[in-house]
Amino acid sequence: MTQTLSEKLTSFSNPMNDADSILALQIDGELTTTRKGTRLLSALLANHVKVLKACGGQGRCATCHVFIQKGMDCLTPYTEQEIMTLGLMKIEQPNARLACQCMVLRDGVSLEVPKGKYVGSETELESLVGKKAQQSIFHPITGETLVYEGKLILRTALQRMQAANQQFDQEMNLLLSRKSKKDN
Ligand code: FES
Repeated sequence: MTQTLSEKLTSFSNPMNDADSILALQIDGELTTTRKGTRLLSALLANHVKVLKACGGQGRCATCHVFIQKGMDCLTPYTEQEIMTLGLMKIEQPNARLACQCMVLRDGVSLEVPKGKYVGSETELESLVGKKAQQSIFHPITGETLVYEGKLILRTALQRMQAANQQFDQEMNLLLSRKSKKDN
């Protein structure tokens, strides 16, 4: 049964809420609820947000990233993997989180899901060259916008994707070799 907004708000402020508590969450301005300790990705999926989750929730892609508008401190801290991946992504906003890497701990998270589509591969993007982008097209690992909504998809977008893939591979190899030296 769908809860009314006032029912949701009443449950948010219930001081008895604890381990099993139902927490307030806003996704793209829509108020919803989730259980304390729920992975943010699960909360998004439960609210019918389409998330590609290209790496299967391993914290190694950009496809589950969201922007936290409020309540960053209501989420679990950044994981090591998340920090590494966010560091390699090409987005400017400092409030990005990987939804598969954090859990909701308290009321008050408000987030925005990037509007657009992640392209699955260079081949997929190549097949779209010459068409108009119905929505913005994002790189699946770096999160950068390759083509803006309404623009013609040009070969230069494909070249940017190829260059981003190469750069990402180089940077990831460098990070992994540094990490293995540190671990040894
Ligand atoms: S699904 Fe890939 S980082 Fe979350």
